[in-house]
Amino acid sequence: MINSAVQIVVVGSYNRDFALRVDQFPIPGETRLSLGRAESPGGKGSNQAIQAARCGAPTAMIAALGQDPAGDEALSLWSGLQIEAGAVVRLSDVATGMAMILVNHQAENMIVVDSGANDRLSEHHIFAAKSLIAQARLVLAQLETPMAATKAAFDLARRAGVTTLLNAAPANRALDHSLLALTDILCVNENEGTALSGKTSPEAIGTSLLEVGPAMVILTLGVDGAMLFQRGQPPLRAHPPAVNAVDTTGAGDAFIGAFAAQWLLNQDPSAALHFALAAGALACTGQGAAASFGNREEIERLAASCPARPS
Ligand code: RIB
Repeated sequence: MINSAVQIVVVGSYNRDFALRVDQFPIPGETRLSLGRAESPGGKGSNQAIQAARCGAPTAMIAALGQDPAGDEALSLWSGLQIEAGAVVRLSDVATGMAMILVNHQAENMIVVDSGANDRLSEHHIFAAKSLIAQARLVLAQLETPMAATKAAFDLARRAGVTTLLNAAPANRALDHSLLALTDILCVNENEGTALSGKTSPEAIGTSLLEVGPAMVILTLGVDGAMLFQRGQPPLRAHPPAVNAVDTTGAGDAFIGAFAAQWLLNQDPSAALHFALAAGALACTGQGAAASFGNREEIERLAASCPARPS
């Protein structure tokens, strides 16, 4: 049964995250002792869906999970957040995705993902969710699930007049450039932007990516905030509120989920950028990915403490 009130459909991954805190990252061949461990829900797709839902946007997931306890946990997490999961598939011969994460004293992270079931999300699963996609307002995807499935979803969205938002992460996944032609809003960090455009300066990355399809390019710049490029307009620049960061894992996902939810309210890119930066900053103040995301009220409170300032 499709919930016709769904506004954001996320086509993406779910991972069980296993994180270890370390004083510093090991070098090749080195063994270090952990300062603590944590297990929590992750996956860029699920993280972004959770943040959008916590900001009040009716959200659905299209994802592939194993028939295992980690898959059960994902479904119960989404159910608790009213994230529609009717189009989520369970596969009996593959495990739910997992990620091994190291977080150092500077709150930086290193992540290795074992895709598991995420890699088995197919065009067939997308076509089965055609009516869910067609009634949405925004379809959001990343590069942790197969490109063919994302292209099928964006193609259905385009035909139905539904906005598409692609977070081209992780950077090391080869991107089929025909997907960019189906993308309305592209969001990348500097590494991903350089990998896609071959450019290094933020202005050159944004301008060059606008030429390959998307009408809007958002470039995240870590502690330096983010820039938003639209054809024929000067770029917007915004800065994040200062916070005491303990773990940056999932901060980019919080940014994107919050941007999507806020942008749908009134299509004001400047307000959405400011709100999304506060969501990303808030996500850095707690350990884990989605476990540290704020709700709309908490994000608005932090955003208000750091009014938008001109670039
Ligand atoms: O963006 C952070 C996420 O990347 C983690 O939750 C991990 O699962 C990987 O997908």
